Amino acid sequence: MTPNQISIERYRRVAAGYDASAHFTMPLRLRTIGLLALAPGDVVLDVGAGTGLSFAPLLAAVGERGRVLAFEQSPEMCEQAEARVRREGWGDRVWLQCSSAEEVRLPQPCDAALFNYVHDISRSPQAVDNLMRQIKPGARIAIAGMKFFPWWTGPLNLLAWLKNRPYNANPADLWSPWDRIAPWCDGFERWSTQWGMGYIARGRRRA
Ligand SMILES: C[S@@+](CC[C@H](N)C(=O)[O-])C[C@H]1O[C@@H](n2cnc3c(N)ncnc32)[C@H](O)[C@@H]1O
Repeated sequence: MTPNQISIERYRRVAAGYDASAHFTMPLRLRTIGLLALAPGDVVLDVGAGTGLSFAPLLAAVGERGRVLAFEQSPEMCEQAEARVRREGWGDRVWLQCSSAEEVRLPQPCDAALFNYVHDISRSPQAVDNLMRQIKPGARIAIAGMKFFPWWTGPLNLLAWLKNRPYNANPADLWSPWDRIAPWCDGFERWSTQWGMGYIARGRRRA
C-alpha cells in the first residue's frame, strides 16, 4: 500500500470519533492560526483540512470578503467537512475539494497556508512540492505537529510513536518533521510545544 492508501485506511477508522478526540488540541490549532496573522479579505489555504475544525476560526479572521481554500483526501473526513459547510451555511466562502496534497489544484492564489497536524503531507516530497509551487511568494505559512523528544530521553519516544500510529502512515519519521517545508520559507521560526512532543513554526513562502 502507498502512504496515501495507508492514511486513507487509518482515517476511515478514526473519522467518526475525530472531532471528539481533537477537542483537547483545539487551543493548539488556534495558536497555529494566530501565527498566520490573517487580515480581512485574505485567502487562506487549510492543508489536509480533516473535518473542517479550523474553518470557523479561519473564516472569522478573513471576514466576509475573505475565503478559505481547503482539501482533504480521506472521503470520510471530507464528508464531515462538507456537512459542516452546509450546516453553517458558509457556501462559497469555503472552497473544499476531496483530493490529495500531491494532486490538488487550487482555484486561486492564497495569502496564507495552514499546516495543522498534517504530518503525512509534510513528509511527502511530492505533496510539499505541489503545494509550495501554488502558494504565492510572500504568503504566510504556519505549521504545527508532533515530533520526537530529544534523543537522550530514549523510551519517551515510544509514546510519541504510539500517539501517531493510529493516524499517520509515517509515525516514526518524527525527528524533524518540518524539514521539507522549512527550505521553502524565509524567516522560518520554530518553537517546542507539549513539553517537547510537539512543535509550532512559521515562515513566509520564499520568493
Ligand atoms: C490529524 S488530521 C488533521 C486535520 C486538520 N488539519 C485538523 O487540524 O484537524 C490529518 C489529515 O490529513 C489528511 N491527509 C493525510 N495525508 C494526506 C494527503 N497526502 N493529502 C491530503 N490529505 C491528507 C488526513 O486524511 C487527515 O484528515
